[in-house]
Amino acid sequence: MCESKTIWWDGGLWLIDQTILPGELMPLCMKSVRQLIEAIKSLRVRGAPALGAAGAYGVALAADLSGASNALEMMAELENAADMIKASRPTAINLSWGVDRAMRAAALQETAEDIRKAALCEAEEIAEEDIRINKLLGKYGARLLDDCDNVLTHCNAGRLACVGWGTALGVIRSAVAAGKQIHVYACETRPLHQGSRLTAWELSQDEIPVTLICDSMSGSLMRKGKIDKVIVGADRITRDAVFNKIGTYSHAVLARYHKIPFYVAAPLSTFDRMHEEGDIVVEERDAEEICTLAGTRLAPRGIDVYNPAFDATPLELVSGLITEKGVFRPPLMPPI
Ligand code: MRU
Repeated sequence: MCESKTIWWDGGLWLIDQTILPGELMPLCMKSVRQLIEAIKSLRVRGAPALGAAGAYGVALAADLSGASNALEMMAELENAADMIKASRPTAINLSWGVDRAMRAAALQETAEDIRKAALCEAEEIAEEDIRINKLLGKYGARLLDDCDNVLTHCNAGRLACVGWGTALGVIRSAVAAGKQIHVYACETRPLHQGSRLTAWELSQDEIPVTLICDSMSGSLMRKGKIDKVIVGADRITRDAVFNKIGTYSHAVLARYHKIPFYVAAPLSTFDRMHEEGDIVVEERDAEEICTLAGTRLAPRGIDVYNPAFDATPLELVSGLITEKGVFRPPLMPPI
């Protein structure tokens, strides 16, 4: 199975440009914090855990490019960069979590050079941790899947959404690695098609059988008895709800109606114990994402559009939260 990374440091910050997949697999080198912010906003790098690493590497990049000669000057520059990176996408908690971790490591240092080293070291630790954690939660989650299961997933919670391995797809990959035959239904995930462009591509690379469907087909498939389980990732898990790609809530409601287990796979860094659903800002994206497709106009110019990137699924619809500490059945939550 593919072990390559989505984001890494090699003399500078590199990431796979996810906007041009599956056509091209192209690494991009980030030459400035501004370029990284553009990459985050345009979803060249995306998915909660990958954003966590991007946030921390962003602080390391700001330190690397800074000409500051003393710690005070350097920290002032980093705080500015940290605020801009955190503001680039508000919903996935991992982005600010990664930025804050690198900033905390930097703040303990006494010289500009030590700040540079500490920020990069923390970012590298987050990246390594991500793969370790995903493999661990994959192992716990794989026990929930039976041989010959048909599993529905939404968006992309694979290695492209992380540094490596994946969360929801990590569970599927771990089950396959353990010798189970799993077939995946990948929802295309309108409007940006993370399912068709990324999940279908990733699974094909690993030779895991996958069937692509439109988002609106999941209910009909469940009614026909073709789905055994649903597994998705998460951008933020509050005290009462799971925030994930728009469309997730509909699958959860349908799964409950059809008595199909609905699982969420996420590292502890995605949990937000401080907030409830109503506190969270859901990113609203450009109308053009819905009104055009590859340059072709799909809707009349000037039409009113609602384009939230995420929705909230109440925890009572979740059969299990798959984490690196094991599987928790709400209202039980992992200890943090
Ligand atoms: O807008 P995106 O593509 O960043 O949204 C990503 C998702 O909703 C994923 O399902 C989530 O981040 C979990 S990724 C392991």
